[in-house]
Amino acid sequence: MSAFRGQVTLDGPSGTGKSSVARSVAARLGAAYLDTGAMYRAATVAVIDAGVDPDDAEAVARVVAAARIEVGTTAGVEQVEVDGTDVAERIRGAEVTRNVSAVSAVPAVRRQLVDQQRALVASADAVVVEGRDIGTVVLPDATLKVYLTAAPEVRAERRAGQLGISDPAEVAAIAADLRRRDEYDSSRADSPLRPAADAVVVDSTDLDREAVVDRVVDLALSAVGAG
Ligand code: DC
Repeated sequence: MSAFRGQVTLDGPSGTGKSSVARSVAARLGAAYLDTGAMYRAATVAVIDAGVDPDDAEAVARVVAAARIEVGTTAGVEQVEVDGTDVAERIRGAEVTRNVSAVSAVPAVRRQLVDQQRALVASADAVVVEGRDIGTVVLPDATLKVYLTAAPEVRAERRAGQLGISDPAEVAAIAADLRRRDEYDSSRADSPLRPAADAVVVDSTDLDREAVVDRVVDLALSAVGAG
């Protein structure tokens, strides 16, 4: 078991391999794992099922306030429920992905989920938390903050590879969608996507996944004097 105690935050845009890195780092450190994107995605399921327009901020806030959103904290098993129904697969679908930026831009939704995230983190001795605003807003005093980035073309190709897509026009469409989401997530008024002032920026453009995992684990152990 590793000597790590504390919180590692892993923020950055989509398509950087953040989730897979975060899960491996959690497993290596013997830490719990929290995917905050899954919580915004679960909130989006509740909004879609309520038949509410995702751009109607008031209605969205009302629906999410009434929904019971539960996510697991064990790396390896994705457990996501809305009002007791398993939505782990659904949250990865196109409909949720298309609407999640609008839902996650609503301040009341963010306040609710940030409170829930802090409570989950407080119950763990060691935890890896991934998202967009974890180092800047959710856990400003985290033990280690990492901001993971990669060139947009590389991110689009990795995402296409995961989806089994090789047609250049479809890869270009994925790149355009990533740029659209980056723009939306970085320019929203509440908790925009950006590195915390004290984050270590790791650019994975020329690094494979294992090299990124090694680097984050080393940084985490050094941060607690165990490296
Ligand atoms: O990491 P992901 O693709 O599962 O995130 C889904 C969406 O949720 C993404 O558009 C950004 C948003 N998000 C957020 O606003 N804040 C977080 N802490 C995590 C995700």
